[in-house]
Amino acid sequence: MDNLIEQRPPTYHAVIAGYGSFAPEKTITNDDLAEMVDTTDEWITTRTGIKVRHITTDNETTALLAIKAAKRALAEAKLDAKEIELIIVATITPEMVFPSTASFVQLALDAKKAWAFDLAAACSGFIYGLSIVRQFIESGQIKNALVVGAETLTKITNWKDRTSCILFGDGAGAFVLERADKNNRRGIMYSTMFSDPTRWDALNCQAYGSRYPVGKKLDNPEKIYMQIKGRQVYQQAIRRIVETVTECLEKCNLTLDDIAMVISHQMNARIIESAAKRLKLPDEKVFLNIAEYGNTSAASVPIAFDECVRKGRVKRGDIVILVAFGAGLTWAANVIEF
Ligand code: UT7
Repeated sequence: MDNLIEQRPPTYHAVIAGYGSFAPEKTITNDDLAEMVDTTDEWITTRTGIKVRHITTDNETTALLAIKAAKRALAEAKLDAKEIELIIVATITPEMVFPSTASFVQLALDAKKAWAFDLAAACSGFIYGLSIVRQFIESGQIKNALVVGAETLTKITNWKDRTSCILFGDGAGAFVLERADKNNRRGIMYSTMFSDPTRWDALNCQAYGSRYPVGKKLDNPEKIYMQIKGRQVYQQAIRRIVETVTECLEKCNLTLDDIAMVISHQMNARIIESAAKRLKLPDEKVFLNIAEYGNTSAASVPIAFDECVRKGRVKRGDIVILVAFGAGLTWAANVIEF
């Protein structure tokens, strides 16, 4: 028995060694949208908090955004891409049907040692990715990993649908996670993930998968675009964020005083503010950058984290909660000692 215990792999922690983000240069404002659909800057601002979003040009793709964010995270971590052991790209707007967007990131980085795959969990994808990497690092199986959230949602946006086209933007964010001895920083302390498929039809893009393949006439041509029933998920989003953050605090034996910041997926400023109010989170512990980006799905949390750190609102040693909610439905959180 003693021998067996000795043979167990040592326990490690998965710490954030590097972080970075990238957003395309081109932007589209609420006033631009008001010229395209029946909406106003005032409606969009009061209902969502969004003022402007970054959008890709025809030549800018999901892999391109992912690679730019990944390079920034690697530089911050001072890690040579040749040393990366695992690459996960969380996305619902991949480079192509296959191979994975992660394969293109691996190719561009010349990360020969790595294995790579995509993860489709919509807005929760990046948080799911961190949770997966944590398992591999803590078990001692890998020493490091690159997790990227990258989206080009504006390529599946119906610019004639005012209920959805005002919400989304493009961008990418990345973390480099490294194995640290358990006596060092704790890194990812706690992870929790959920999904509820019964409400899949509230947020989706149905063509072109195996149900609606290319070549089969669509009963509704709009199925090539994102469809969203925002009202149906609004209350769910608030409820799940509150539940998940509460669970994180309880399981980690933490109070709000111990938390430097809750960094939520940026889906709607009103949703985040309502959840924060219910959690009794003071304003200075809630990070919002949706005004400049819109909803960038899997990219939103790492972009927000990167900005938060660069603005000095989160520092090394701080404990932060990353939380997301989105299509699936999916929701998830990680508690991290940065
Ligand atoms: O990351 C997770 C994915 N994101 C989400 O799931 C989004 C969650 N939901 C939301 O953020 C909000 O529900 C929206 C921002 C999408 C909509 O805000 P709302 O306060 O829930 O508005 P609503 O859908 O209840 O619509 C209110 C009114 C409607 O008109 P009537 O029926 O009251 O006459 C809409 O037709 O606002 C109208 N409307 C608009 N008016 C001006 C809907 N979109 C627009 C628009 N401009 N862009």
